[in-house]
Amino acid sequence: MRPSARKWRLASSFPRESNRRATVEAAEAMNGDASQKAEVTVPDAVDLEAEFRASNVQEVLDQLDRELVGLGPVKTRIREIAALLLVDRVRRRLNLTSETPTLHMCFTGNPGTGKTTVALRMADILHRLGYVRQGHLVAVTRDDLVGQYIGHTAPKTKEVLKKAMGGVLFIDEAYYLYRPENERDYGQEAIEILLQVMENQRDDLVVILAGYKDKMDRFFQSNPGMRSRIAHHIDFPDYTPEELLAIGKLMLAQQNYRLSPEAEEVFKDYIRRRMQMPHFANARSIRNALDRARLRQANRLFASRGKPLTREQIMTIEPADLLQSRIFRETVQPPG
Ligand SMILES: Nc1ncnc2c1ncn2[C@@H]1O[C@H](COP(=O)(O)OP(=O)(O)OP(=O)(O)O)[C@@H](O)[C@H]1O
Ligand SMILES: [Mg+2]
Repeated sequence: MRPSARKWRLASSFPRESNRRATVEAAEAMNGDASQKAEVTVPDAVDLEAEFRASNVQEVLDQLDRELVGLGPVKTRIREIAALLLVDRVRRRLNLTSETPTLHMCFTGNPGTGKTTVALRMADILHRLGYVRQGHLVAVTRDDLVGQYIGHTAPKTKEVLKKAMGGVLFIDEAYYLYRPENERDYGQEAIEILLQVMENQRDDLVVILAGYKDKMDRFFQSNPGMRSRIAHHIDFPDYTPEELLAIGKLMLAQQNYRLSPEAEEVFKDYIRRRMQMPHFANARSIRNALDRARLRQANRLFASRGKPLTREQIMTIEPADLLQSRIFRETVQPPG
């Protein structure tokens, strides 16, 4: 897409802008016949605060703070990216042209650390600031992009790209696209198509690669072209036991449940044990544990259905609902 088209879109997503016409004319002048001088009025100053308010990005940032526990460094990076985009938008209005910033990102971290959740919010921010037309997120893995037979990969990858255009393409465990052990692997074909689109259509599509840090590092070593197209690398740390407890309480509160004080102590013990088990997946493990606790609570309430139940009782997870977990049979209490 030519720069003029890009400018148009940025301007057109904010129709109340008084100098929209000027921006469009300026863009046309830059790309059109240089001898034909266009009438351009560019403001001398802009109100960054007003721009920020008009974008409603604060809403997403607040929601991020409210609904996601911890993740301090991730939230900081997102605020930084939002600031960059906002300033870039304002610069365009002042006719201070620069290239469209590359916005492709890489989210690394262990399972359940919030990568998909944050990617969804990121898509929203990019949309509010006019960087993508729709702000939807298409999440895929290797199997969605790579075919089984010769000639299948290109149409598959292109179909996914078509769906994601105007939004964010989230590729989970992106490194599986590259299989060095298999010389004729079709993944390479998908990578090449992606690289091309990431370069040529970066003003209409943002790609976020996600996965484990070490595997992603190795992937980038073998695919420097991919690395060079990623502007933002964001690392998602594992949660501390305290953060996991806070996440659990937040998840329960969102569904009108709560832990009794005794159950909270049991849940702290549960978390420490679960963290040492195989396949521990941070916040996802917490969510799963609480789903099972709700099931047991429902069974417990149902078993005593002869007696009337208070609202409080129906809302409360008790120790018994947690202690039936196999975690307590299969692990010893960790120290601390
Ligand atoms: N910081 C957090 N605060 C509250 N809830 C969280 C937080 N991080 C993750 N969750 C919740 O945990 C679950 C898993 O998160 P998410 O799917 O975003 O993780 P992920 O890193 O994409 O995991 P995977 O690598 O397994 O795909 C979701 O239900 C999400 O809402
Ligand atoms: Mg995920």
